[in-house]
Amino acid sequence: MFFCQNCGFESSKWMGQCPGCRQWNTFVEEQVVTGSISKGIKKTQREEENRPWSLSEISLEEEDRLSTGMQELDRVLGGGLVRGSLTLVGGDPGIGKSTLLLQVCRNLSLDEKEVLYVSGEESLKQIKIRANRIGEFNGYLKLLCENSLGTVEEVMRRTKPDVVVIDSIQTMFHESISSAPGSVSQVREATGVLLQLAKGLNISIFIVGHVTKEGTVAGPRVLEHMVDTVLYFEGDRHASYRILRGVKNRFGSTDEIGVFEMASEGLKEVHNPSEFMLSGKPEGESGSIVVCSMEGTRPMLLEIQALVCHSSFGIPRRQTIGTDFNRVNLLIAVLEKRVGLTLGNCDAYVNIAGGIRIQEPAVDLGIALALASSFKNKPIDDKTIAIGEVGLSGEVRGVSMIQARVQEAKKLGFTTCIVPSVNRDAVKNMDGIKIIGVKSVGEAIGIL
Ligand code: TYD
Ligand code: MG
Repeated sequence: MFFCQNCGFESSKWMGQCPGCRQWNTFVEEQVVTGSISKGIKKTQREEENRPWSLSEISLEEEDRLSTGMQELDRVLGGGLVRGSLTLVGGDPGIGKSTLLLQVCRNLSLDEKEVLYVSGEESLKQIKIRANRIGEFNGYLKLLCENSLGTVEEVMRRTKPDVVVIDSIQTMFHESISSAPGSVSQVREATGVLLQLAKGLNISIFIVGHVTKEGTVAGPRVLEHMVDTVLYFEGDRHASYRILRGVKNRFGSTDEIGVFEMASEGLKEVHNPSEFMLSGKPEGESGSIVVCSMEGTRPMLLEIQALVCHSSFGIPRRQTIGTDFNRVNLLIAVLEKRVGLTLGNCDAYVNIAGGIRIQEPAVDLGIALALASSFKNKPIDDKTIAIGEVGLSGEVRGVSMIQARVQEAKKLGFTTCIVPSVNRDAVKNMDGIKIIGVKSVGEAIGIL
């Protein structure tokens, strides 16, 4: 069969362009082995589990969760690491995947759990150098430098550890498949074998996956379908903080994030991200406002920056970092038509400070106010925060979890909070912070 090395599209003949992802020259012939590889394990599993079960027969005791020793990671995993689960950790090279997992291994081994760290990328010495930066280790952690999946499987069956880390799936190869490590069939088969091991032996397995230029895990999408949990480690390589985001989670919610900071002795958890994100906010400058976005169950305060200036070319430039480009264009159109700001011949740049990405519509009002502030060159009061979604007729619509958001603003010393008027009643009894309900963007701009 021919496989697209970019997206995993499968075809019986070679093609120049992949119909799946439209990339050129990505098809490579690979031998497909049917049946023979994981049959043995499948069979034994079937014998135990080939009857239907009623819900009341299933005990949840096996579902007990291990704490990884890092609250931020536990939260993203949905409350801890589930036994027998397969977790994929993706991210750019050098972002800190190996560091994070080595720290998890350390915490688990200090908790007297048997941990096996398999590295196909680094030598034992290299791992030792990293481990020395992180801290003291004990004998419960075992290291293995190995590329052959057969050997890894054999070791896992013999030693039966509680947790295994495979760093990385792209370096593993299965002897019975002729294609090179990292190719689609290898990655898929290797993941299949690990899945069987995780479920069969009740071992929690972390798999590290490299990310392609397009930002997905290299190899086929099937990888994401096979595993229980997919976590992405992201962040600006030049900034020190890192964000761990759940993309898929069979054991919990996917919109939780964990925030870490890369320090000289490994990753440190950041328990109060709002403070961290606002640390560099300029004072008394136009085009800057603080908003509150929900990340799962956690409110997070962020600074939105906008820069509007006269365009020197025929077509104005619009650029966004950290937020949706089309959404910002829509807000610019609303400001032009409903509020009467002539932004049509202006360049506009919008940036969510700190490099974090936000999709939530509750930051709309903040973006609109930042744009208006920059356009009029009038700074917004530093202790004011804006929350609300903006509709096409310039109305400010209600948002969810308003109490949590206002509470967070109050905690960090903000004194005025602009909220949608429909949400005002829910928070009007909060003292120590002035709540202003607004119906439209124009009204909010007028007040400020
Ligand atoms: P690493 O975990 O090797 O990344 P990945 O496995 O995702 O490719 O990350 C290594 C980077 O982190 C490297 O640039 C050095 C830096 N680092 C620190 O700043 N402090 C530390 O304590 C460690 C172990 C690494
Ligand atoms: Mg690594």
